[in-house]
Amino acid sequence: MTSIVLYCRPGFEKECGAEIQEKASWNEMFGYLELKKNQGLVLFHLHESEHGETLMKKLPLKRLIFARQWFISLTEKIDLPDYNRVEAIVDTLSSECQYEDLRMETLDTNDGKSLSKFCRKLSVPLRQGLRKEKLLKEKSKSSPESVKGRILHALFLSGQEVILGFSLAQNSSKYIMGIPRLKFPHQSPSRSTLKLDEAFLHFIPRDEWSERLTSGMNAVDLGSAPGGWTYQLVRRGMMVTAIDNGPMAESIMETGQVKHKMMDGFKYIPIKQNVYWLVCDMIEKPQRVAKLMAQWLLNGYCKEAIFNLKLPMKGRYQQVNDDLKMIKDAFSEHKVKYELYAKHLYYDREEITVHARLLSPLPQLK
Ligand SMILES: C[S@@+](CC[C@H](N)C(=O)[O-])C[C@H]1O[C@@H](n2cnc3c(N)ncnc32)[C@H](O)[C@@H]1O
Repeated sequence: MTSIVLYCRPGFEKECGAEIQEKASWNEMFGYLELKKNQGLVLFHLHESEHGETLMKKLPLKRLIFARQWFISLTEKIDLPDYNRVEAIVDTLSSECQYEDLRMETLDTNDGKSLSKFCRKLSVPLRQGLRKEKLLKEKSKSSPESVKGRILHALFLSGQEVILGFSLAQNSSKYIMGIPRLKFPHQSPSRSTLKLDEAFLHFIPRDEWSERLTSGMNAVDLGSAPGGWTYQLVRRGMMVTAIDNGPMAESIMETGQVKHKMMDGFKYIPIKQNVYWLVCDMIEKPQRVAKLMAQWLLNGYCKEAIFNLKLPMKGRYQQVNDDLKMIKDAFSEHKVKYELYAKHLYYDREEITVHARLLSPLPQLK
């Protein structure tokens, strides 16, 4: 049986499962779910084996909100011996295919974390063993973005249990388990800074940063205090208008790149049409935030927006779909082309992060 194996934040297996099942069914591919509660693991067992690769070719991982990483299983859970684990793994794989790279993965749980040392130790001999049998290509100098072909995944559930599978390099996360490990910048006034840092990495391709994320741009940060998100804009050389009734950290104000306005983020309207980025981390009803973001883009107040939508306790997947639909409907009503992606990022907790921009001119400007 072929399964799609998906990683998500522990506790969000139901949402991740509902999403893959729904989006697979839109492509007329069906199966049943096995959710590993609080382990951040979802197995979608497909009724037709060949649907694994077909689905991965049709459905961009970027379109899945709750899945961080995925792969198509080549084996069910296999038991490894105490010794000769490398041999056991190499022997299991057939030599029809040569993989571009290997991802040694665990679950995002405490048990999983305790296996990371084991994985690091096994990684070198396993790579050597795979290369010897021509199952893994020699290390390439090209960037992960340019790699095409298949990536081999080894998901270790324990030191004795592994699931093997593969993903398509062009449609999987380049990060192990889909988790970018970001360093907290000590100059930042809050840890939330990592959310916006990850969002930029996730939504904006690196080769477009010089146009879309660059020094000299103007940005607005709604719900900015104490300034972790503002810090990400400032460090990229932007001038920021920070809107919050709460105080901004002195360190961020001392940069001279920030104007702080103590007012309601729902009432602020920029005077000039020179704002490129709008970011918003206000703790507010997601419907209100979604509506405000659509208005900003449709009024031409900003070119691109990144914002958080808080998740409810129950019915999270449905709520997210309703919020996003509201934004899509507003764009469609104005007949504009747009880009809208949402992700439950690693540094997100009870919220998702959304990126939106319009791709066609505003109706009044046509
Ligand atoms: C999660 S904190 C933002 C943290 C900030 N992004 C950072 O990285 O430091 C949410 C902020 O939203 C602000 N907020 C909530 N509702 C607001 C509103 N209607 N207008 C302006 N700010 C608001 C709160 O005062 C709070 O400072």
